[in-house]
Amino acid sequence: GLTVYLNGEFMPLPEARISPLDRGFVFADGVYEVIPAYGGRLLRLGEHLQRLENSLAGIRIDNPLDRPAWTAMLEDLLARNGGGDRSIYLQVTRGPAFPRDHAFPEQPRPTVFAMSTPLRPLDPALRASGVPAISHEDIRWDRCDLKTIALLPAVLMKQLAKERGAFETILVRNGLVLEGAASNVFAVMDGVLVTPPKGPFLLPGITRDLVLELAAEHGFPWREADLPAAALDRADELWVTSSTREIVPVTSLDGRAVGAGRPGPVYARFYGWYQEKLA
Ligand code: PDD
Repeated sequence: GLTVYLNGEFMPLPEARISPLDRGFVFADGVYEVIPAYGGRLLRLGEHLQRLENSLAGIRIDNPLDRPAWTAMLEDLLARNGGGDRSIYLQVTRGPAFPRDHAFPEQPRPTVFAMSTPLRPLDPALRASGVPAISHEDIRWDRCDLKTIALLPAVLMKQLAKERGAFETILVRNGLVLEGAASNVFAVMDGVLVTPPKGPFLLPGITRDLVLELAAEHGFPWREADLPAAALDRADELWVTSSTREIVPVTSLDGRAVGAGRPGPVYARFYGWYQEKLA
């Protein structure tokens, strides 16, 4: 069984108990991170902890642990759950409070939870064929840069994709592609790798930064620029990226082929470079 971390202690998952008064449960008042680990090594831990700090500051929760304490706890959690390729999910909420009141409690006692589960690679057949995606108007708020646990729009968008036989929903606001429901988006346009610039309407993905770093390292032309949804008709390639799925080629959008309708040569190069980074 899984060993999880809750409020300073490690325990078997069935023993982890959280109050129904927890503001995470009552108000979705919390933030989270997902961190991949390969061969027991956390990938880009510093970047993930920095983003966690930004998310906590954004919703005004004091960080309950400092960086060394986060690092020690997460490494301990990995070790207690065996090695291999794993994904860590961690969550911090504003903790239990009574009576129910939207405003913050006087003395918040944040709830800190973390678990580690095996990283399930994408089905190789899907990676070989590429995946279908759909597009949809973005129905979220204007602080999408914070990784909050209030994920209902993402839940609905992912479910819609599933019901339409698609892998991901690409979110569009005012005609501009921003990101996927749980991923960042890249397009290859006229030989240039393009991804939307950071801002309040998308999550600054750690995988996104890694892909841009790979482009710079290998001298591949890249640009952070607005990506009009209408321009995707002319895209040679379209990808989505995330910590759990790495880089995934999107080969059809709303039922129409993207580029040649199969994973492109630029994807193949970047995916190879990405795997080299993990080795
Ligand atoms: N989601 N954008 C959104 C809205 C996301 O939820 C995610 C990741 C990303 C990619 O970020 P990163 O490369 O740091 O994983 C972009 C995680 C994996 C999740 O919710 O499970």
